[in-house]
Amino acid sequence: FRTWRWIWRLTYLSALGGVAYIGYGIYEDRHPEPQTEPDPTKKTLVILGTGWGSVSLLKKLDTENYNVIVISPRNYFLFTPLLPSCTTGTIEHRSIMEPIRTILRQKRASVKYYEAEASSIDPDRKVVKIFDNSDIRGATAETEVPYDMLVIGVGAENATFGIPGVRENSCFLKEIGDAQLIRKKIMDCVETAAFKDQSPEEIDRLLHMVVVGGGPTGVEFAGELQDFFDEDIRKLIPDISDRFRVTLIEALPNVLPSFSKQLIEYTESTFKEEKIDIMTKTMVKKVTEQTVEAEAIGPDGKKQKIVLPYGLLVWATGNAVRPVVKDLMARIPAQKDSRRGLAVNEYLVVQGTRDIWAVGDCAVAGYAPTAQVAGQEGNFLARLFNNMAKTETLEENIRELSSSLNLKPGNAAEISRAIEDQERQLRRIKDIKPFHYSHQGSLAYIGSDKAVADVSWFNGNFATGGNLTYLFWRSAYLSMCFSTRNRLLVCNDWVKSKLFGRDVSRE
Ligand code: FAD
Ligand code: NAI
Repeated sequence: FRTWRWIWRLTYLSALGGVAYIGYGIYEDRHPEPQTEPDPTKKTLVILGTGWGSVSLLKKLDTENYNVIVISPRNYFLFTPLLPSCTTGTIEHRSIMEPIRTILRQKRASVKYYEAEASSIDPDRKVVKIFDNSDIRGATAETEVPYDMLVIGVGAENATFGIPGVRENSCFLKEIGDAQLIRKKIMDCVETAAFKDQSPEEIDRLLHMVVVGGGPTGVEFAGELQDFFDEDIRKLIPDISDRFRVTLIEALPNVLPSFSKQLIEYTESTFKEEKIDIMTKTMVKKVTEQTVEAEAIGPDGKKQKIVLPYGLLVWATGNAVRPVVKDLMARIPAQKDSRRGLAVNEYLVVQGTRDIWAVGDCAVAGYAPTAQVAGQEGNFLARLFNNMAKTETLEENIRELSSSLNLKPGNAAEISRAIEDQERQLRRIKDIKPFHYSHQGSLAYIGSDKAVADVSWFNGNFATGGNLTYLFWRSAYLSMCFSTRNRLLVCNDWVKSKLFGRDVSRE
């Protein structure tokens, strides 16, 4: 009995401590210390983008060491791993957004932010041309920003491979606006299918949701969509529920090519149970307003043409290089053989340039284009830049101490010791190892409260799938959310959608 009382007391105290810790964190965020103004004698560091790479860099960067300027058309950080959940209203979109102004306010020295898109970079003149592409523009909507050091973290755009009709007729899933559009279109298809006197063929078309691309984006979206239908729409509009269909089209022989074989099989069998059709070895060749035309390779190895009528089409076939990056690559001879983005060296310096670094999906460093890689690259650059600034300070100190040696010969021994100490620190700081990516594993939600995980474990790999993995998926992503505010909002959304169902109103 006494032991239980102690366990109860300890649990109570640790819960109280946890609440106090979170409360203090929130209080500190709401009442930040006054910021110091940037020092004009310091170097100007321009950072493009507010995604995983750039924000990870900003989080760890000592902004007192540079005049930092952030430029991005998106004035918030987006937690992309939970974006598929926003398409069905499992999570509300603002729960996974963190305003960049809030992030920058936490820095010790102030940082300038311009809501703009970089249209070109001139590495010879060391300037970035920017323009305001928002709805409200002032008299000046285009200008140039000079830099001493530049970090490019502009991510990638959606790949369409020039397939006709894709841009005009499909939805993508990369930004908040994409998720909102999908959510609206799902409900539009459902309500239009329920319209009086709708023909059975039209109901079938409207309720056929086609996803192209069997990578993690396509798989997670297909799973979320089927959940939405099974858990909410089927109950609210039962008369059309038998006609709802999700089809996932993939050009390769299987979905989730980057996951281990057993997880691919597990995902495919779970999709079969969930009644999601998977069409592998099927390449989409053309898209029209109401149909998808594809070429499939049958079991006999022969090609056959398929035409699928659809109500909603979501295109998730990976990444393509952004125009600003393409433009820069064309200006640098050393980049002429690079196809997928800016080739960088082991310190993430853009090859063929000086003072330009690249992180995340726009950089080709030999790793997959994931948030995990972008985040680690951003952290690495923060360490590198902090060290570079310290190096400059130490070198300056050594120069000053050395010159004072001649002026104060009486203090020679003391000054020599100080120089030695500074040199020791300098050697330690200068010894920065090249960037090394440490893979923590891959996670994907596959619907029906199941997830798959390929986790790195003591130099080995551990593959698992199912409901417990889903709990792991949830806790991992919750802990990775940007702020306490995001965590609380995401938790609230999960509870809300479980208790009351997802909101099916069409905004
Ligand atoms: P982004 O995060 O895309 O950020 C790019 C930034 O640059 C944005 O702020 C953008 O507005 C800005 N920008 C664009 N053009 C310009 C310009 N011309 N000038 C200035 N700024 C510009 N990865 C994982 O590891 N795990 C996951 O679970 C996962 N889930 C995902 C789910 C979805 C739906 C998607 C789409 C991706 C997911 N990813 C995941 C991949 C991950 O999101 C990307 O690899 C990651 O966002 C790359 O980070 P980044 O900083 O390079 O680019
Ligand atoms: P992807 O590049 O991983 O997959 C795209 C798929 O589309 C490929 O399998 C390709 O074969 C297929 N495809 C291309 N053209 C096609 C066509 N015409 N017809 C049919 N299929 C076609 O792209 P995705 O899923 O958008 O992911 C992008 C990056 O983001 C990846 O690196 C991925 O690992 C990462 N990501 C990670 C997630 C996670 O870890 N949970 C979630 C989402 C994305």
